[in-house]
Amino acid sequence: MGELVRLVYASKASFMPMPASSGVEPTVARILMQSRQNNSRKDVGGVLYFGDGFFFQALEGDRGTVTETFERISADSRHQQVTTLSMKTVTTRLFADWSMKYVPAEKSLREFLGRRGYTRFQPLRFSEEEAEALVHFFDAKRDEDVDGGKKPGRFSLRALFSRKSRPAN
Ligand SMILES: Cc1cc2nc3c(=O)[nH]c(=O)nc-3n(C[C@H](O)[C@H](O)[C@H](O)COP(=O)(O)O)c2cc1C
Repeated sequence: MGELVRLVYASKASFMPMPASSGVEPTVARILMQSRQNNSRKDVGGVLYFGDGFFFQALEGDRGTVTETFERISADSRHQQVTTLSMKTVTTRLFADWSMKYVPAEKSLREFLGRRGYTRFQPLRFSEEEAEALVHFFDAKRDEDVDGGKKPGRFSLRALFSRKSRPAN
């Protein structure tokens, strides 16, 4: 097993997203299904968030595998302006599974952004520190979802799309 890395990038969707009120964006759902299949085979984990027409994704795994996966993703015509925000060697994974949030206007994310002076989700402008902070925010959110006994939000796809990696207590 080579070096463990976490790569975080943002991009802009090149399709016109369906309104959030109509449920899961179909293009995003397709991307997620492909990702789950490929990533679980390659032992790549992470989180994919889609909001306001932008993607924000973290990929964790072996350096070579993450690089190869990211090259494939970068060439995908369903998004553009693919921008690497952070690439780090890490000792442990935050996301041993594959999960996704689809929460276009979730209050706590708005608050997270507001504290950093953003009025909208503009991840292409994120600094490395902001990108890492958002990854940790998603990680913490997930624990809250799993352990807090909160009922899954209407946009939560965890039940559909992620393997649980931690005991739910
Ligand atoms: C925003 C975005 C995120 C994606 N994330 C992944 C991913 O994590 N893993 C993956 O294998 N493919 C991902 N894809 C899809 C790839 O670009 C590519 O279409 C796919 O890997 C091809 O898989 P296939 O050869 O099995 O058809 C993503 C695409 C987009 C637009």
